[in-house]
Amino acid sequence: ALKPIVIAVDGPAAAGKGTLARRLATVLGLPYLDTGLLYRAVGRRVLDAGADPRDAAHAEAAARALQPADLDRADLRGPMADMAASAVAAIPAVRAALLDFQRDFGRAHGAVLDGRDIGTVVFPDAAVKLFVTASVAERARRRFLELTARGVAADAAQVESEIRDRDAQDANRPVAPLRPAQDALALDTSAMDADAAFAAALALVRERLG
Ligand code: CDP
Ligand code: CDP
Repeated sequence: ALKPIVIAVDGPAAAGKGTLARRLATVLGLPYLDTGLLYRAVGRRVLDAGADPRDAAHAEAAARALQPADLDRADLRGPMADMAASAVAAIPAVRAALLDFQRDFGRAHGAVLDGRDIGTVVFPDAAVKLFVTASVAERARRRFLELTARGVAADAAQVESEIRDRDAQDANRPVAPLRPAQDALALDTSAMDADAAFAAALALVRERLG
């Protein structure tokens, strides 16, 4: 039997990973998983319980109790949810509790997954690994526009500083830090719109898959 194709899309906050990964999945006929949602849902559960997302025992219990319906919640995006996700994501027991779900998702039929550690930890043998980046100013601009479009009042400078803080926290944690896999293909989308980034990514994927 053919080995299912797994495509890893990693990178820093608001780089356009989700937009890109979803389109790749559609075109290639593969399932898509936004792994950031798992950490967001765990962070939300901890906040709802009135606990601190940095509290390892609470966060691990929340990760083990995670239900599929938690991923459909409407309150998983916003500054509080962003930082809570990043806080629980630094806890090794939380990452361990979410690993099998991600691997099972991709293993059966292949998949496109986006996150921080897909190419380094979750699927180190992925057929294609993309590391999608853009300048912090451009990423902040994209996130600001997204918030504004959703009707959320946002401050541009604050959005940028939150992105810087979260990237630093994600890159400096000891377990599964944000970094490109050694065999990842880097795609800097600073000067690309979403269509151009998708075209560039698809070309890289086709080249890698042969
Ligand atoms: O998943 P991640 O946080 O990396 O990014 P996203 O949720 O896909 O959001 C990226 C936002 O920037 C979306 O509103 C896209 O339309 C826009 N965008 C993009 O994805 N790629 C570009 N090259 C330019 C803009
Ligand atoms: O969309 P955005 O890039 O802002 O964030 P996300 O992909 O939804 O991820 C939210 C947080 O979850 C990140 O800041 C990471 O701390 C964590 N995360 C992770 O550690 N590993 C992943 N595979 C996905 C997300």
